[in-house]
Amino acid sequence: MSALEIKHLLGLRGVSANDIRAILDEAAGFKKVLERKVKTLPTLRGTTVVNLFFENSTRTRISFELAEKRLSADIVNFATSSSSVQKGETLLDTLKNIEAMKIDVVVVRHKGTGVPKFLSEHTDAVIVNAGDGSHEHPTQALLDIFTIESNLGNLSGKTVTIVGDIKHSRVARSNAWGLNALGANVRFCGPPTLMPRNPKMLPAEIFCDVAKAVDGADAVIALRLQKERMDDSLLPSIREYRNFYGITRKILEHAKKNVLIMHPGPINRGVELDSDIADGENSVILEQVTNGVAVRMSVLYLLSAGRAGE
Ligand code: CP
Repeated sequence: MSALEIKHLLGLRGVSANDIRAILDEAAGFKKVLERKVKTLPTLRGTTVVNLFFENSTRTRISFELAEKRLSADIVNFATSSSSVQKGETLLDTLKNIEAMKIDVVVVRHKGTGVPKFLSEHTDAVIVNAGDGSHEHPTQALLDIFTIESNLGNLSGKTVTIVGDIKHSRVARSNAWGLNALGANVRFCGPPTLMPRNPKMLPAEIFCDVAKAVDGADAVIALRLQKERMDDSLLPSIREYRNFYGITRKILEHAKKNVLIMHPGPINRGVELDSDIADGENSVILEQVTNGVAVRMSVLYLLSAGRAGE
């Protein structure tokens, strides 16, 4: 009997409120453990986790590795630059070879949308999506949700505004599905050229005017301009983007006084977020990073519990 309805964490689309709740509740327990002097638990002793990062990462990679270490898992880190991928080995062959070494969990980040799902169809290991292209980044959204709930309580009826490059944002997509499942109202705001082609497919209200989008908001998540996924023609200039969509003190006069300021990182300071806001009294950006470890411990623990006895 699995601890969750899902066997893999590929995205938050279609994940039930019960599963999300279970992950958040377990994370709250792990967060308490992380505040102790001795932070390590024997929970995943004997479980082998491979971190398969085909794309750059600071926060997610370190956070997963720390979560795995805190749970006493055996860890293998895969670096694309020094692997046989450079010699032309396919993704599936890479997976099959790693799987042959008896692994239990694969944490994967890849620029290709759908890579985690593809891998899940070809392995008995548990697959955890650490970000796939512009598709989903479920553990980022879970840690965002955990952070909002920790500060503001139950999400039902709360308004969360996500501002910026929605089109290329896996964080925006995962947050929309996860927040919606827990009863929050989600708003997307950004230039029309940085909106998804069919925004009505996502559970979010669309705004072009950032002052209206943050009006009455409980939390504002600013997104990074993803220049690496972007065609130059999508924006007239970075300065114009900052003038219309940058989160400034003036814009935040429209939000609730205690609005949470969030960002998944890395931040382009002075573009999507002014430094005085990123480091200001309402910012929970570093708290998001702290919570990421507890949330990832929870995901790894609950998905691995589903494999117990296999
Ligand atoms: N938030 C996030 O995914 O950051 P990294 O790219 O540094 O992992």
